[in-house]
Amino acid sequence: MNHTPVPFLDFTPMNERVREKMFAAFQRVYDSNWFILGKEVDAFETEFARFTQTTYAIGTGNGLDALYLSLKAIGIQPGNEVIVPANTYIATALAVTYAGATPVMCEPDAQTWNIDPKKVEACITPKTKAIMPVHLYGQACELDAIMHIAKAHNLYVIEDNAQAQGATWNGKPTGSFGDLAATSFYPSKNIGAYGDGGAITTSSETFAKQVRLLRNYGSEKKYHNEIQGINSRLDEMQAAFLRIKLEALEAWNRERVHIANRYTQNLADIQHIQLPQVAVGASAVWHVYVILTSQREKLMAYLQDRNISTMIHYPIPMHLQKAYAGLGFKKGAFPITEHIADSCLSLPLYPGMTDAQVDLVCEHLVTFFRNA
Ligand SMILES: Cc1ncc(COP(=O)(O)O)c(C=O)c1O
Repeated sequence: MNHTPVPFLDFTPMNERVREKMFAAFQRVYDSNWFILGKEVDAFETEFARFTQTTYAIGTGNGLDALYLSLKAIGIQPGNEVIVPANTYIATALAVTYAGATPVMCEPDAQTWNIDPKKVEACITPKTKAIMPVHLYGQACELDAIMHIAKAHNLYVIEDNAQAQGATWNGKPTGSFGDLAATSFYPSKNIGAYGDGGAITTSSETFAKQVRLLRNYGSEKKYHNEIQGINSRLDEMQAAFLRIKLEALEAWNRERVHIANRYTQNLADIQHIQLPQVAVGASAVWHVYVILTSQREKLMAYLQDRNISTMIHYPIPMHLQKAYAGLGFKKGAFPITEHIADSCLSLPLYPGMTDAQVDLVCEHLVTFFRNA
């Protein structure tokens, strides 16, 4: 069989398609001599708010800060609890910790791997102030149920939309449901910068004003500091690049959907793996395509031997990370989350990946499991 390398992620096809536009954007910002909070950030914020069907978008230095500033905007304080999915990337919980509050971990649904609304209610205590649903792997969470629970218990909702730019719930974009939503433009994200970047989306004028202040030293007017803010701004260069990426995002998400559907079709008959399931009402933009298998390590090595790169999102759940040893959890505390961490494998997927590459990955998987 053909052993041409299949990388996990290759930026080249995307970069080549926008090369001229990117170089022109670089030159435009370079020649403008204006690098922080200028025309490009303003324009990107307007365009990104339109894309997410919200009133305001506010650029930040990265996704973690976008989450943290959203929590600050709703007034999260020490002593508060915030519900997060147990199987998210650690940034979601760290933002809560940095805001001085306690992340309360909630198990995901065993099929969609997104936070299970049926289990959220059991996590609510008198200290709970907010729920942070994460649209993990690119799939929208079950937002009707989550918004309903939040309303019933008078809780804020902050969406973690880092992995799902362009996904929808009942046709409405993720990032437009919560009081605020945070996203990341880390290079590998569906809309990735050439460096770090992030944004908050909201339709609340009050929250928008607050995060605008918070990201810029608490200041609207230079050297007039209304509150104690931080420095977390999207820069002009990244904003200019992201404007070009945003124009391409829907087409590139369609390619991701095409690749994911091809995986799902080609792998449907393999008994030994669990494929991702998309909830009724949700759409997925496939930030990553994850399968579960009890033979993960063997499969990963087998594919690597055949020049196919895969990744694990994520190998150690937050509650078992050293960083959160202080929360006192033991193995077994979150069985679904631990099962996912022990068996998940992300297959190669990126705009520009060819059908032949997808088929090659699938053929190797079929052969591996035929002999398993
Ligand atoms: C779900 C999730 N939340 C938050 C973040 C944080 O984003 P950043 O790396 O831009 O700080 C990431 C990505 O890294 C993520 O995947």
